[in-house]
Amino acid sequence: MTLNFAKKSLLGAALSGLVSLSAQAGTVEVLHYWTSGGEAKSAAVLKQLLEQEGHQWKDFAVAGGGGESAMTVLKSRAVSGNPPGAAQIKGLDIQEWADLGFLTELDAVAEKAGWDSMLPGVVSDVMKYEGHYVAVPVNVHRVNWLWANPEIFTKAGVSVPSTWDEFFVAADKIKAAGYIPLAHGGQAWQDATVFEAVALGVGGAEFYRKAFVEHDQTTLTSPTMVKVFETFKRLRAYIDKDAAGRDWNIATAMVINDKAAMQIMGDWAKGEFAAAGQVPGKDYICVAAPGTQKGFTFNVDSFAMFEVKDDGDKQAQADLARLILEPEFQETFNLNKGSIPVRTGLPRDKFDSCAHTSMDDFVATAKSGGLVPSMAHGMSTTSAVQGVIYDVVTNYFNSDSLSAEQATERLAKAVKAAI
Ligand code: GAL
Repeated sequence: MTLNFAKKSLLGAALSGLVSLSAQAGTVEVLHYWTSGGEAKSAAVLKQLLEQEGHQWKDFAVAGGGGESAMTVLKSRAVSGNPPGAAQIKGLDIQEWADLGFLTELDAVAEKAGWDSMLPGVVSDVMKYEGHYVAVPVNVHRVNWLWANPEIFTKAGVSVPSTWDEFFVAADKIKAAGYIPLAHGGQAWQDATVFEAVALGVGGAEFYRKAFVEHDQTTLTSPTMVKVFETFKRLRAYIDKDAAGRDWNIATAMVINDKAAMQIMGDWAKGEFAAAGQVPGKDYICVAAPGTQKGFTFNVDSFAMFEVKDDGDKQAQADLARLILEPEFQETFNLNKGSIPVRTGLPRDKFDSCAHTSMDDFVATAKSGGLVPSMAHGMSTTSAVQGVIYDVVTNYFNSDSLSAEQATERLAKAVKAAI
Protein backbone atom coordinates (compact mmCIF):
# COMPACT_ATOMS: atom_id res chain seq x y z
CA MET A 1 0.00 0.00 0.00
CA THR A 2 2.63 2.52 1.13
CA LEU A 3 5.00 1.32 -1.57
CA ASN A 4 2.33 1.65 -4.22
CA PHE A 5 1.61 5.13 -3.04
CA ALA A 6 5.30 6.02 -3.10
CA LYS A 7 5.63 4.62 -6.64
CA LYS A 8 2.56 6.47 -7.79
CA SER A 9 3.71 9.79 -6.40
CA LEU A 10 7.16 9.33 -7.93
CA LEU A 11 5.56 8.51 -11.27
CA GLY A 12 3.24 11.48 -10.92
CA ALA A 13 6.17 13.75 -10.17
CA ALA A 14 8.08 12.31 -13.14
CA LEU A 15 5.18 12.94 -15.47
CA SER A 16 4.78 16.46 -14.21
CA GLY A 17 8.46 17.03 -14.97
CA LEU A 18 9.68 17.33 -11.38
CA VAL A 19 11.61 14.11 -11.44
CA SER A 20 13.47 12.59 -14.37
CA LEU A 21 13.71 8.92 -13.58
CA SER A 22 16.97 7.23 -14.51
CA ALA A 23 16.91 3.98 -16.42
CA GLN A 24 17.99 2.24 -13.23
CA ALA A 25 17.37 3.80 -9.88
CA GLY A 26 19.78 3.18 -7.06
CA THR A 27 21.10 4.46 -3.77
CA VAL A 28 24.28 6.31 -2.94
CA GLU A 29 25.44 6.49 0.61
CA VAL A 30 27.29 9.81 0.84
CA LEU A 31 29.92 10.38 3.49
CA HIS A 32 30.54 14.07 4.14
CA TYR A 33 31.27 16.48 6.97
CA TRP A 34 29.02 19.34 6.02
CA THR A 35 27.00 19.82 9.18
CA SER A 36 27.12 23.56 9.97
CA GLY A 37 24.18 25.75 8.90
CA GLY A 38 25.63 26.90 5.58
CA GLU A 39 27.20 23.52 4.86
CA ALA A 40 24.00 21.55 5.50
CA LYS A 41 22.10 23.85 3.15
CA SER A 42 24.74 23.20 0.51
CA ALA A 43 24.68 19.41 0.91
CA ALA A 44 20.88 19.50 0.65
CA VAL A 45 21.17 20.90 -2.88
CA LEU A 46 23.01 17.81 -4.06
CA LYS A 47 20.62 15.47 -2.29
CA GLN A 48 17.66 17.14 -3.93
CA LEU A 49 19.14 16.96 -7.42
CA LEU A 50 20.01 13.29 -7.00
CA GLU A 51 16.51 12.49 -5.79
CA GLN A 52 15.04 14.33 -8.75
CA GLU A 53 16.75 11.70 -10.90
CA GLY A 54 14.84 9.03 -9.02
CA HIS A 55 17.77 7.88 -6.88
CA GLN A 56 18.05 7.70 -3.12
CA TRP A 57 20.57 9.67 -1.06
CA LYS A 58 21.61 7.88 2.11
CA ASP A 59 23.09 10.58 4.27
CA PHE A 60 26.26 9.72 6.16
CA ALA A 61 27.30 12.98 7.79
CA VAL A 62 30.18 12.87 10.26
CA ALA A 63 30.46 16.15 12.16
CA GLY A 64 33.84 17.76 12.64
CA GLY A 65 35.25 20.72 10.72
CA GLY A 66 38.12 19.99 8.36
CA GLY A 67 36.95 16.37 8.10
CA GLU A 68 39.42 14.59 10.36
CA SER A 69 36.69 12.54 12.08
CA ALA A 70 35.03 11.79 8.75
CA MET A 71 38.32 10.41 7.40
CA THR A 72 38.76 8.19 10.45
CA VAL A 73 35.27 6.78 9.97
CA LEU A 74 35.88 6.30 6.24
CA LYS A 75 39.05 4.32 6.92
CA SER A 76 37.32 1.98 9.33
CA ARG A 77 34.42 1.39 6.92
CA ALA A 78 36.84 0.72 4.06
CA VAL A 79 38.99 -1.63 6.13
CA SER A 80 35.91 -3.64 7.08
CA GLY A 81 35.04 -3.97 3.37
CA ASN A 82 32.00 -1.74 3.51
CA PRO A 83 32.88 1.75 2.24
CA PRO A 84 30.08 4.20 1.37
CA GLY A 85 29.29 4.70 -2.33
CA ALA A 86 30.61 8.25 -2.29
CA ALA A 87 32.89 10.12 0.07
CA GLN A 88 34.07 13.67 0.38
CA ILE A 89 37.80 13.16 -0.01
CA LYS A 90 40.20 15.58 -1.54
CA GLY A 91 43.69 16.61 -2.49
CA LEU A 92 46.47 14.09 -2.18
CA ASP A 93 44.17 11.72 -0.28
CA ILE A 94 42.49 10.97 -3.60
CA GLN A 95 45.74 9.54 -4.92
CA GLU A 96 46.23 7.45 -1.80
CA TRP A 97 42.73 5.91 -1.98
CA ALA A 98 43.08 5.27 -5.72
CA ASP A 99 46.46 3.67 -5.18
CA LEU A 100 44.87 1.25 -2.74
CA GLY A 101 42.41 0.24 -5.46
CA PHE A 102 39.22 1.52 -3.81
CA LEU A 103 37.99 4.08 -6.33
CA THR A 104 35.77 3.81 -9.38
CA GLU A 105 36.90 5.41 -12.63
CA LEU A 106 34.67 8.22 -13.79
CA ASP A 107 36.09 8.59 -17.31
CA ALA A 108 32.83 7.73 -19.10
CA VAL A 109 30.95 10.54 -17.32
CA ALA A 110 33.91 12.89 -17.65
CA GLU A 111 34.31 12.37 -21.39
CA LYS A 112 30.62 12.73 -22.15
CA ALA A 113 30.39 16.00 -20.22
CA GLY A 114 33.81 17.30 -21.30
CA TRP A 115 35.33 17.78 -17.86
CA ASP A 116 38.81 18.26 -19.33
CA SER A 117 37.76 21.44 -21.11
CA MET A 118 35.74 22.92 -18.23
CA LEU A 119 38.20 22.41 -15.35
CA PRO A 120 41.39 24.34 -14.59
CA GLY A 121 44.43 22.06 -15.00
CA VAL A 122 45.49 22.63 -11.40
CA VAL A 123 42.19 20.98 -10.37
CA SER A 124 41.78 18.18 -12.93
CA ASP A 125 45.33 16.93 -12.23
CA VAL A 126 44.36 16.19 -8.64
CA MET A 127 41.13 14.44 -9.67
CA LYS A 128 42.99 11.98 -11.88
CA TYR A 129 44.93 8.89 -10.97
CA GLU A 130 47.24 7.56 -13.68
CA GLY A 131 45.38 9.69 -16.21
CA HIS A 132 41.88 8.55 -15.23
CA TYR A 133 39.29 10.59 -13.37
CA VAL A 134 38.63 9.05 -9.96
CA ALA A 135 37.04 12.06 -8.27
CA VAL A 136 34.80 14.95 -9.18
CA PRO A 137 35.51 18.46 -7.89
CA VAL A 138 32.75 20.49 -6.30
CA ASN A 139 34.08 23.99 -5.69
CA VAL A 140 37.04 26.23 -5.04
CA HIS A 141 37.35 27.57 -1.52
CA ARG A 142 39.81 30.35 -0.77
CA VAL A 143 41.33 29.82 2.65
CA ASN A 144 43.27 33.05 3.27
CA TRP A 145 40.38 35.31 4.24
CA LEU A 146 39.82 37.71 7.09
CA TRP A 147 36.16 38.16 8.09
CA ALA A 148 35.41 41.37 9.93
CA ASN A 149 32.54 42.96 11.81
CA PRO A 150 32.35 46.60 10.57
CA GLU A 151 30.33 47.84 13.54
CA ILE A 152 33.01 46.78 16.02
CA PHE A 153 35.72 48.39 13.88
CA THR A 154 33.77 51.65 13.82
CA LYS A 155 33.25 51.54 17.59
CA ALA A 156 36.95 50.87 18.15
CA GLY A 157 37.87 53.65 15.70
CA VAL A 158 40.14 51.51 13.51
CA SER A 159 40.08 50.20 9.97
CA VAL A 160 40.22 46.62 8.80
CA PRO A 161 43.92 45.64 8.65
CA SER A 162 45.75 44.74 5.48
CA THR A 163 49.14 43.94 7.05
CA TRP A 164 50.13 42.06 10.19
CA ASP A 165 51.47 45.29 11.74
CA GLU A 166 48.09 46.92 11.21
CA PHE A 167 46.39 43.83 12.57
CA PHE A 168 48.12 44.12 15.95
CA VAL A 169 47.43 47.86 16.21
CA ALA A 170 43.74 47.28 15.42
CA ALA A 171 43.49 44.27 17.74
CA ASP A 172 44.79 46.30 20.70
CA LYS A 173 42.20 49.01 20.11
CA ILE A 174 39.39 46.47 19.68
CA LYS A 175 40.39 44.79 22.93
CA ALA A 176 40.44 48.16 24.70
CA ALA A 177 36.94 48.83 23.35
CA GLY A 178 35.74 45.67 25.12
CA TYR A 179 35.46 43.21 22.22
CA ILE A 180 37.23 39.97 21.43
CA PRO A 181 39.61 40.85 18.57
CA LEU A 182 39.91 37.37 17.03
CA ALA A 183 37.25 34.65 17.02
CA HIS A 184 38.96 31.28 16.95
CA GLY A 185 38.31 27.66 17.77
CA GLY A 186 41.15 25.79 19.43
CA GLN A 187 41.23 22.72 17.21
CA ALA A 188 44.38 21.58 15.40
CA TRP A 189 42.99 22.18 11.89
CA GLN A 190 41.87 25.69 12.81
CA ASP A 191 45.27 26.48 14.32
CA ALA A 192 46.85 25.22 11.09
CA THR A 193 44.44 27.31 8.99
CA VAL A 194 45.55 30.47 10.77
CA PHE A 195 49.20 29.39 10.72
CA GLU A 196 49.26 28.95 6.94
CA ALA A 197 47.65 32.40 6.50
CA VAL A 198 50.41 33.90 8.66
CA ALA A 199 53.04 31.99 6.68
CA LEU A 200 51.69 33.30 3.38
CA GLY A 201 51.43 36.84 4.76
CA VAL A 202 54.87 36.94 6.35
CA GLY A 203 56.82 34.87 3.82
CA GLY A 204 54.93 35.24 0.53
CA ALA A 205 53.88 32.61 -2.00
CA GLU A 206 57.36 31.40 -2.95
CA PHE A 207 58.31 30.83 0.69
CA TYR A 208 54.96 29.10 1.28
CA ARG A 209 55.42 26.80 -1.70
CA LYS A 210 58.98 25.88 -0.77
CA ALA A 211 57.93 25.09 2.80
CA PHE A 212 54.60 23.32 2.42
CA VAL A 213 54.68 21.87 -1.08
CA GLU A 214 58.37 21.15 -1.67
CA HIS A 215 59.28 20.70 2.01
CA ASP A 216 62.59 22.39 1.37
CA GLN A 217 64.76 22.15 4.50
CA THR A 218 66.51 25.49 3.96
CA THR A 219 63.14 27.23 3.89
CA LEU A 220 61.72 25.23 6.78
CA THR A 221 64.68 26.19 8.98
CA SER A 222 64.93 29.81 7.77
CA PRO A 223 64.71 32.99 9.86
CA THR A 224 61.49 33.73 7.95
CA MET A 225 59.93 30.60 9.45
CA VAL A 226 60.98 31.78 12.91
CA LYS A 227 59.23 35.07 12.19
CA VAL A 228 56.12 33.19 11.05
CA PHE A 229 56.01 31.29 14.35
CA GLU A 230 56.58 34.50 16.33
CA THR A 231 53.80 36.37 14.54
CA PHE A 232 51.47 33.40 14.89
CA LYS A 233 52.04 33.19 18.65
CA ARG A 234 51.24 36.88 19.12
CA LEU A 235 47.66 36.11 18.04
CA ARG A 236 47.07 34.17 21.24
CA ALA A 237 46.70 37.40 23.21
CA TYR A 238 43.68 38.39 21.10
CA ILE A 239 41.67 35.17 21.39
CA ASP A 240 39.23 34.64 24.29
CA LYS A 241 39.90 32.10 27.02
CA ASP A 242 37.05 29.79 25.98
CA ALA A 243 38.45 29.00 22.53
CA ALA A 244 39.62 25.45 23.29
CA GLY A 245 37.67 22.90 21.26
CA ARG A 246 35.27 25.48 19.82
CA ASP A 247 33.87 24.63 16.36
CA TRP A 248 34.74 27.04 13.55
CA ASN A 249 31.12 27.97 12.87
CA ILE A 250 30.62 28.94 16.51
CA ALA A 251 33.61 31.26 16.08
CA THR A 252 31.99 32.71 12.93
CA ALA A 253 28.81 33.25 14.95
CA MET A 254 30.82 35.41 17.37
CA VAL A 255 31.61 37.77 14.48
CA ILE A 256 27.99 37.63 13.26
CA ASN A 257 26.65 38.37 16.76
CA ASP A 258 28.94 41.36 17.49
CA LYS A 259 31.04 39.51 20.08
CA ALA A 260 34.26 39.32 18.10
CA ALA A 261 35.77 41.60 15.48
CA MET A 262 37.53 39.16 13.15
CA GLN A 263 38.02 35.56 12.12
CA ILE A 264 40.70 34.10 9.87
CA MET A 265 39.00 31.26 8.06
CA GLY A 266 38.26 29.88 4.60
CA ASP A 267 35.18 31.10 2.80
CA TRP A 268 32.97 28.30 4.09
CA ALA A 269 32.58 30.95 6.84
CA LYS A 270 30.71 33.02 4.27
CA GLY A 271 28.13 30.23 4.14
CA GLU A 272 27.39 31.00 7.81
CA PHE A 273 27.07 34.77 7.21
CA ALA A 274 24.77 34.01 4.26
CA ALA A 275 22.66 31.54 6.25
CA ALA A 276 22.25 34.25 8.92
CA GLY A 277 20.94 36.62 6.24
CA GLN A 278 24.00 38.89 6.35
CA VAL A 279 25.21 40.86 3.36
CA PRO A 280 28.90 41.43 2.54
CA GLY A 281 30.06 45.03 2.54
CA LYS A 282 27.22 45.92 4.91
CA ASP A 283 26.91 43.43 7.76
CA TYR A 284 30.36 41.95 7.36
CA ILE A 285 33.57 42.59 5.45
CA CYS A 286 35.72 40.09 3.59
CA VAL A 287 39.33 40.92 2.80
CA ALA A 288 42.42 38.83 2.14
CA ALA A 289 44.16 37.81 5.37
CA PRO A 290 46.87 40.36 6.33
CA GLY A 291 49.70 40.53 3.82
CA THR A 292 48.15 37.93 1.49
CA GLN A 293 46.48 40.16 -1.10
CA LYS A 294 48.67 38.73 -3.86
CA GLY A 295 48.17 35.16 -2.74
CA PHE A 296 45.37 32.62 -2.86
CA THR A 297 45.44 29.41 -0.84
CA PHE A 298 43.02 27.12 -2.62
CA ASN A 299 41.02 24.27 -1.18
CA VAL A 300 38.98 22.19 -3.61
CA ASP A 301 36.29 19.90 -2.22
CA SER A 302 35.58 16.76 -4.19
CA PHE A 303 33.82 13.43 -4.09
CA ALA A 304 35.21 10.05 -4.98
CA MET A 305 33.11 6.98 -5.69
CA PHE A 306 33.89 3.62 -4.14
CA GLU A 307 33.28 0.33 -5.94
CA VAL A 308 29.69 -0.91 -5.58
CA LYS A 309 28.08 -4.04 -7.06
CA ASP A 310 24.47 -3.20 -7.84
CA ASP A 311 23.82 -1.75 -11.34
CA GLY A 312 21.27 0.74 -10.03
CA ASP A 313 23.73 1.96 -7.42
CA LYS A 314 26.40 2.30 -10.12
CA GLN A 315 24.02 4.41 -12.18
CA ALA A 316 23.25 6.55 -9.12
CA GLN A 317 26.98 7.16 -8.62
CA ALA A 318 27.46 8.13 -12.26
CA ASP A 319 24.50 10.50 -12.10
CA LEU A 320 25.82 12.04 -8.87
CA ALA A 321 29.20 12.64 -10.51
CA ARG A 322 27.57 14.19 -13.58
CA LEU A 323 25.25 16.45 -11.55
CA ILE A 324 28.12 17.89 -9.52
CA LEU A 325 29.62 19.64 -12.52
CA GLU A 326 26.37 20.74 -14.10
CA PRO A 327 25.71 24.51 -14.01
CA GLU A 328 22.61 24.27 -11.81
CA PHE A 329 24.43 22.52 -8.98
CA GLN A 330 27.59 24.60 -9.36
CA GLU A 331 25.64 27.80 -8.93
CA THR A 332 23.19 26.92 -6.15
CA PHE A 333 25.64 24.89 -4.12
CA ASN A 334 28.41 27.47 -4.21
CA LEU A 335 26.05 30.33 -3.39
CA ASN A 336 25.23 28.49 -0.15
CA LYS A 337 28.70 27.19 0.56
CA GLY A 338 30.64 30.44 0.22
CA SER A 339 32.97 28.98 -2.40
CA ILE A 340 33.14 29.69 -6.13
CA PRO A 341 32.24 27.28 -8.93
CA VAL A 342 35.10 25.02 -9.96
CA ARG A 343 33.75 24.94 -13.49
CA THR A 344 34.95 27.87 -15.55
CA GLY A 345 32.81 30.13 -17.71
CA LEU A 346 29.58 30.18 -15.66
CA PRO A 347 27.60 33.42 -15.20
CA ARG A 348 28.67 35.27 -12.05
CA ASP A 349 25.83 37.74 -11.61
CA LYS A 350 24.18 35.92 -8.68
CA PHE A 351 27.43 35.82 -6.70
CA ASP A 352 28.35 38.49 -4.15
CA SER A 353 31.35 40.82 -4.00
CA CYS A 354 33.49 38.39 -1.94
CA ALA A 355 32.93 35.67 -4.54
CA HIS A 356 33.79 38.10 -7.34
CA THR A 357 37.05 38.99 -5.58
CA SER A 358 37.77 35.29 -5.19
CA MET A 359 37.03 34.57 -8.87
CA ASP A 360 39.24 37.45 -10.05
CA ASP A 361 42.05 36.60 -7.64
CA PHE A 362 41.97 32.91 -8.58
CA VAL A 363 42.66 33.82 -12.21
CA ALA A 364 45.18 36.57 -11.39
CA THR A 365 47.18 34.49 -8.90
CA ALA A 366 47.25 31.51 -11.26
CA LYS A 367 49.13 33.80 -13.67
CA SER A 368 51.35 35.55 -11.12
CA GLY A 369 52.41 32.45 -9.16
CA GLY A 370 50.46 33.46 -6.05
CA LEU A 371 48.07 30.52 -6.29
CA VAL A 372 49.14 27.94 -3.71
CA PRO A 373 47.52 24.77 -2.34
CA SER A 374 46.25 24.85 1.24
CA MET A 375 48.42 22.81 3.60
CA ALA A 376 45.81 22.87 6.36
CA HIS A 377 43.14 21.50 4.01
CA GLY A 378 45.00 18.61 2.46
CA MET A 379 45.91 20.20 -0.86
CA SER A 380 49.67 20.53 -0.59
CA THR A 381 50.94 17.38 0.94
CA THR A 382 50.14 13.86 2.12
CA SER A 383 48.04 13.36 5.22
CA ALA A 384 51.16 12.05 7.02
CA VAL A 385 53.11 15.28 6.47
CA GLN A 386 50.04 17.37 7.18
CA GLY A 387 49.56 15.49 10.46
CA VAL A 388 53.05 16.26 11.76
CA ILE A 389 52.72 19.93 10.79
CA TYR A 390 49.40 20.07 12.67
CA ASP A 391 51.07 18.57 15.75
CA VAL A 392 53.97 21.01 15.89
CA VAL A 393 51.78 24.03 15.12
CA THR A 394 49.07 23.24 17.64
CA ASN A 395 51.47 22.27 20.43
CA TYR A 396 53.44 25.44 19.94
CA PHE A 397 50.35 27.64 19.80
CA ASN A 398 48.67 26.16 22.85
CA SER A 399 51.56 25.95 25.28
CA ASP A 400 54.61 27.96 26.16
CA SER A 401 57.02 25.05 26.17
CA LEU A 402 58.67 25.88 22.83
CA SER A 403 60.32 29.06 21.57
CA ALA A 404 59.76 30.11 17.95
CA GLU A 405 63.29 28.86 17.13
CA GLN A 406 62.61 25.48 18.73
CA ALA A 407 59.26 25.16 16.94
CA THR A 408 60.97 25.92 13.63
CA GLU A 409 63.59 23.26 14.25
CA ARG A 410 60.97 20.75 15.33
CA LEU A 411 58.81 21.43 12.29
CA ALA A 412 61.68 20.93 9.87
CA LYS A 413 62.72 17.66 11.53
CA ALA A 414 59.18 16.33 11.71
CA VAL A 415 58.50 17.10 8.06
CA LYS A 416 61.77 15.45 7.01
CA ALA A 417 60.89 12.31 8.91
CA ALA A 418 57.35 12.15 7.52
CA ILE A 419 58.11 12.61 3.81
C1 GAL B 1 37.26 22.24 4.78
C2 GAL B 1 36.34 21.84 3.68
C3 GAL B 1 35.21 22.79 3.59
C4 GAL B 1 34.57 23.06 4.93
C5 GAL B 1 35.57 23.19 6.07
C6 GAL B 1 34.96 23.12 7.46
O1 GAL B 1 38.34 21.37 4.86
O2 GAL B 1 37.04 21.82 2.48
O3 GAL B 1 34.26 22.31 2.66
O4 GAL B 1 33.63 22.12 5.18
O5 GAL B 1 36.58 22.24 6.01
O6 GAL B 1 34.48 21.86 7.74
